[in-house]
Amino acid sequence: MADFTAPKGVPDYVPPSSWAFAAVRGKLLAAADRAGYAPIELPVFEDTALFARGVGESTDVVSKEMYTFADRGGRSVTLRPEGTAGVMRAVIEHGLDRGGLPIKLVYAGPFFRYERPQAGRYRQLQQVGIEAIGFDDPALDAEVIAVAHEGFRSIGLTGYRLDVTSLGDGACRPAYRELLQAFLAGVPLDEETRRRAELNPLRVLDDKRPQMQELLSRAPLMLEHLCQDCRAHFDAVLRLLDALAIPYTRNPRMVRGLDYYTRTTFEFVHPGLGAQSGMGGGGRYDGLMAELGGQSLSGIGFGIGVDRTMLAAQAEGLTPGSTGRCDVYGIPLGAAAMQALMVLAGELRAAGVRVDLSYGGRALKGAMKAASVSGARFALILGERDLQESCVIVKDLGTQQQRAVPLEAAVQTLRQDLAASSPP
Ligand code: HAM
Repeated sequence: MADFTAPKGVPDYVPPSSWAFAAVRGKLLAAADRAGYAPIELPVFEDTALFARGVGESTDVVSKEMYTFADRGGRSVTLRPEGTAGVMRAVIEHGLDRGGLPIKLVYAGPFFRYERPQAGRYRQLQQVGIEAIGFDDPALDAEVIAVAHEGFRSIGLTGYRLDVTSLGDGACRPAYRELLQAFLAGVPLDEETRRRAELNPLRVLDDKRPQMQELLSRAPLMLEHLCQDCRAHFDAVLRLLDALAIPYTRNPRMVRGLDYYTRTTFEFVHPGLGAQSGMGGGGRYDGLMAELGGQSLSGIGFGIGVDRTMLAAQAEGLTPGSTGRCDVYGIPLGAAAMQALMVLAGELRAAGVRVDLSYGGRALKGAMKAASVSGARFALILGERDLQESCVIVKDLGTQQQRAVPLEAAVQTLRQDLAASSPP
């Protein structure tokens, strides 16, 4: 038993699962990059008040799940539970909102929530997120959803569902809230649910207990009480999703766990994930920037759970990142051969070929075993005699055929061979 283990509820990703993790995150980031989102790097801890005000005091995230502590200077800081509030803080602080709009940003990294750990629910979770700030144009809503969808597709995922709804805005939600509260007043609720209904009645709709679902089946829904502007906005988003051939389900009972949402909200749900089925989610937050002391600019974004996307890929039998550690594995037999192979490895790497070598003076048999474990498609074997002849043996690890190639032609030959052979 090791003296230390990772903190409870915090996953480690070590090889080989770390390859899958890096591949999933890379593909989600690439989808955002292709749509013109600029990278932003932010601190993992912020002033506690930023989250209290931005995410909302009544949310579970803020009231129960934050890692909050006083630093040595007595300031209350919090490990970020989500990314949107920090992005808005930075946009305001650096005046990005005074430049060209929309501001489109992408980030990746760890977030922290003191939740009860279970499969797919961690206390340190990893997200890739994007935010598009500056317009309430429904085309941006559709783009944000499309970037997530394309990210999932590029991983090979197909078995997920997209739920969408609209939460209305300052014009229609207060009246709806009153309507819902009046409805809830006539329903027998336990004390905790009653308290929740007073604080945030919309969240009661999310109660998964069957008897509650039954009681709430006739509850009024926001989607049926949108004002004209919100209705037109939502219809425009759905028309664009249709045009983009992105399948969706209208889910008027969807409840997001953060308070800043307005209008379009959405969630990607993967049934292969069990109870923690939310692979990613997001929506509009048209009041957030003003709430945090900035000008009144609208925004929309998503956060995709990298951990859960990886689990979803596993559930679909996909193996992202399984292309192996290297394309070429060098096996030097002797010290002089090692020096020559290191030089050759440098040239190959500079030409974009992924190369690893056998270290530690390993004999041919053991080194060949290591070559096959490495996932390389070719082994480069260099013995003393080859070196004298200025040749290297190139062995195709698929067909097991080998041939001698002049050292000075090795880079060119391997690049051609790699281009001609398909990955395993
Ligand atoms: P969120 O729905 O709270 O949204 O989190 C986004 C995703 O992070 C979830 O769909 C899930 O995949 C993953 N996630 C959340 N909690 C955990 C956990 N405990 N363990 C593993 N994965 C988890 C946000 O965070 C918003 N900031 C998204 C957003 C950006 N909205 C607008 N812009």
